[in-house]
Amino acid sequence: MAERTRGPWSVLTRPWAYEALQALLGAERGRRDFAERYLRPRPGDRVLDIGCGTAGLARYLGPVTYVGYEPNAEYVAQGQAENAGSDVALHVGYFDAAAAARHAAFDLVIVSAVLHHMDDGQASELFRLLARVTKPQGRVVTLDNVYVPNQNPIAKFIISMDRGRNVRSPEGYAALTHPHFAACEGTVQHRAWVPYTFWIMECQKPMPDP
Ligand SMILES: C[S@@+](CC[C@H](N)C(=O)[O-])C[C@H]1O[C@@H](n2cnc3c(N)ncnc32)[C@H](O)[C@@H]1O
Repeated sequence: MAERTRGPWSVLTRPWAYEALQALLGAERGRRDFAERYLRPRPGDRVLDIGCGTAGLARYLGPVTYVGYEPNAEYVAQGQAENAGSDVALHVGYFDAAAAARHAAFDLVIVSAVLHHMDDGQASELFRLLARVTKPQGRVVTLDNVYVPNQNPIAKFIISMDRGRNVRSPEGYAALTHPHFAACEGTVQHRAWVPYTFWIMECQKPMPDP
């Protein structure tokens, strides 16, 4: 199972509960920082957001064309209501081969807090599809929680309670991108409060299907 959806985690499938937890964990500040430091979209960019949730990142990207895919229909409904009037198109569902064939290529692909919800097979297939839809000069930027040596024990505990069952090491995340992107760099970010550890990865040079 790639994701916990039962017991105490089931409430998080509701958008209000998910947003409340995100607010408690300082997500808004985190989203702004992630957009400014790592996403750095240019005006007019075509942006794809995989597992976009309620599209909370869209409001930090400026004037871009934003396409989001999200399997939870309730999240999508909330995201559509919050982004009405913007150049934001949200689709309910997984990003599969049919979805990849539907769109022109993207300058920037975001996979934020999603890879740890996917097993290795699902994530590798996602990177294969992303290599098809990323422009030759485009980028894929991912963000996930991560296990690293000597991390804050509170961060490690909070991360161990995540819905996603596939939290990895930096090397584990990087391995998912091969052989679909020729260049991949990442950084570990420690947040002091609420203690948490992130792995942020940027992939470039999409490769054709092997
Ligand atoms: C922690 S939330 C992150 C939401 C959003 N990307 C953000 O950063 O705010 C994880 C999201 O991934 C979605 N998800 C879970 N499994 C997925 C999969 N296999 N493919 C795409 N999205 C998935 C969930 O429905 C959820 O909205």
